[in-house]
Amino acid sequence: MDLSARQSMQQKETIRNREQWQQGKLIEIEISDLSNSGDGVGRFDNRVVFVPDTVIGDRALVRLVRVKPQYAYGKLNQILQPSSHRIPPKCIVADKCGGCQWQHIDYEYQLAAKRQQIIQVLKRIGGFSQPNVAPIISTNSPLGYRNKASYPLGLSSTKELQAGYYRKGSHQIVNLNKCPVQDSRLNPLLAEVKKDIQEQSWSIYNETTHRGQLRHLSLRIGKRTGEILLTLVSTDWHLKGIYEQAQTWLQRYPELVGVCLNYNPRQTNAIFGKQTRCVAGRGYLREIFADLELQLRPHTFFQVNTEAAEALLEVIADRLDLHNRVLIDAYCGIGTFALPLAQKVARVIGIEVQSEAIKQARLNADINGIANVSFVIGAVEKVLPQLEVKPDVVILDPPRKGCDRSVIETLLSIQPSHLVYISCQPATLARDLQLLCSQGSYQLTGVQPADFFPQTAHVECAAFLRLLPQ
Ligand SMILES: C[S@@+](CC[C@H](N)C(=O)[O-])C[C@H]1O[C@@H](n2cnc3c(N)ncnc32)[C@H](O)[C@@H]1O
Repeated sequence: MDLSARQSMQQKETIRNREQWQQGKLIEIEISDLSNSGDGVGRFDNRVVFVPDTVIGDRALVRLVRVKPQYAYGKLNQILQPSSHRIPPKCIVADKCGGCQWQHIDYEYQLAAKRQQIIQVLKRIGGFSQPNVAPIISTNSPLGYRNKASYPLGLSSTKELQAGYYRKGSHQIVNLNKCPVQDSRLNPLLAEVKKDIQEQSWSIYNETTHRGQLRHLSLRIGKRTGEILLTLVSTDWHLKGIYEQAQTWLQRYPELVGVCLNYNPRQTNAIFGKQTRCVAGRGYLREIFADLELQLRPHTFFQVNTEAAEALLEVIADRLDLHNRVLIDAYCGIGTFALPLAQKVARVIGIEVQSEAIKQARLNADINGIANVSFVIGAVEKVLPQLEVKPDVVILDPPRKGCDRSVIETLLSIQPSHLVYISCQPATLARDLQLLCSQGSYQLTGVQPADFFPQTAHVECAAFLRLLPQ
């Protein structure tokens, strides 16, 4: 074929591709990357297509669903040639449920992809040219690892009670009777409790009309103790027959130690409201974490993967010289890191905005006879600049949005010799690390990823920084 014939064929191909670049069209693509949110990424006519439920190496037919000039989202229509990393999902609703994104990817590849994701984000957003990212801490239990499930409740068109996770990208509930990433001891309760709720006269909350009572069913388990706490989240304290029903549940399930009611009347996506009452049994469960006994209440934050959190804690304790040091655990929650590390340092101060969590942290310190720890209620941005003590080490474990800029500025001015930044959101982690390191004050010495959330695209990591000599 001569040059002009080839050029004419290429032009025809380009025109055909342009015609295909429309909502609803079926295109054939090869998946060559994974996005940070876990979607497969392919290219069509030099434009990017994000395709959930795919993995690098898949060749697939994809229907375009949201089309922009330079990129589109696609819905998987058919796998033409499966990737060598593709496996059958363990969950029957994996393609619908928004809880997991990676059930179709083999576990070894999930681990490699998560580490790669962190390296890429540290380079791209953090500006670190060769970040030292350790092999990811994997888990022996890539299924059944979660110690907590909060299922939204709804009604089907035939008024059947639905409980499950939201369908991908929506607020439509995918009804579940078991979930393979939850601790399997929680599964029997889900189907049966749902049936009991259906038989009561309680109304189910409707997100659109904001009418109705019950919003969520939350189950929490102590992985080591097996103790379970059941909480109903309601817009109304008054649920007729709740005390009798709670007693029935306590008698039926020997591992159930308490039934609670959380009051959340607000028009919000937040699951829990501020007030919780114990309806039967006790309002907390006991858990063993890093050899300490912890009491956990229905809605205080606790890492959902107990085993992985312990493994990360161990790395942190090993990497730092903690002897005789003053440690600040900023965003400390119930003292998940502060309490176990207290045994290794001179003194720990935990800072946390949620007073309930601090109440729990203080109680847990007392239960375990830990005397060298104190907790301050307040926002880190307010409390940290006012502390009179100069810390040697600061652990930061902020929510997904990362640290307030003023927290970074305070750290740069008080200059602790070591920082550990724990995060489940690589993008904000990279942003904040860049701020800490760009002025030559701190050096990023290493990053330790840990797989807290198998079967999902989420990853936790701890970044280690040391103060450079000035
Ligand atoms: C990712 S959790 C970590 C909790 C704890 N380190 C753990 O591992 O269990 C973040 C915590 O930061 C708290 N928090 C959020 N914003 C805060 C702020 N501005 N100041 C202090 N604490 C905050 C939340 O209440 C939550 O307990």
